[in-house]
Amino acid sequence: MTANNRIVLSSDHAAIALRQAIAAHIASLGWEVVDIGPTTPESTHYPKHGQAAARRVASGDCRLGIICCGTGQGIMMAANKVKGIRCGVCADTFSARMIRQHNNANMLSIGARVTGEGLALEIVEAFLSAEFEGGRHAMRVDMIEAVEEKPQAESV
Ligand code: RB5
Repeated sequence: MTANNRIVLSSDHAAIALRQAIAAHIASLGWEVVDIGPTTPESTHYPKHGQAAARRVASGDCRLGIICCGTGQGIMMAANKVKGIRCGVCADTFSARMIRQHNNANMLSIGARVTGEGLALEIVEAFLSAEFEGGRHAMRVDMIEAVEEKPQAESV
């Protein structure tokens, strides 16, 4: 069941303020926000937060996910280890739109130490308002999923 309006948000300690700004912004746009923290500033570990958000998306509980850490990179890597997750780090609105339209990304990652809040909110809007185009892109996304089933598949 993926036809819901729910967006899961998570971060590590480096991106709490940005995550909370994103949560408030998308709630004001009408999205249902599932913010799974953390809420306290102690140092924590991005892999567990990335995977926790990714599991909400992979299970269908949430339609899309937005995750943040210092660079956006580590938490993205962790999320992408969960089967069915396609997460990209974006620092520009064009990429945020294209990872939905061409790659059918179901998660977006942003680096709080890389991207300022104003641009980050525009990136989030670009991601959430774009739709997968299907067509020739669907076959390529299927090829990504095939790697999950058969990691030793022959290369080109
Ligand atoms: C935490 O210091 C930092 O390593 C983390 O937020 C992130 O940038 C890792 O990819």
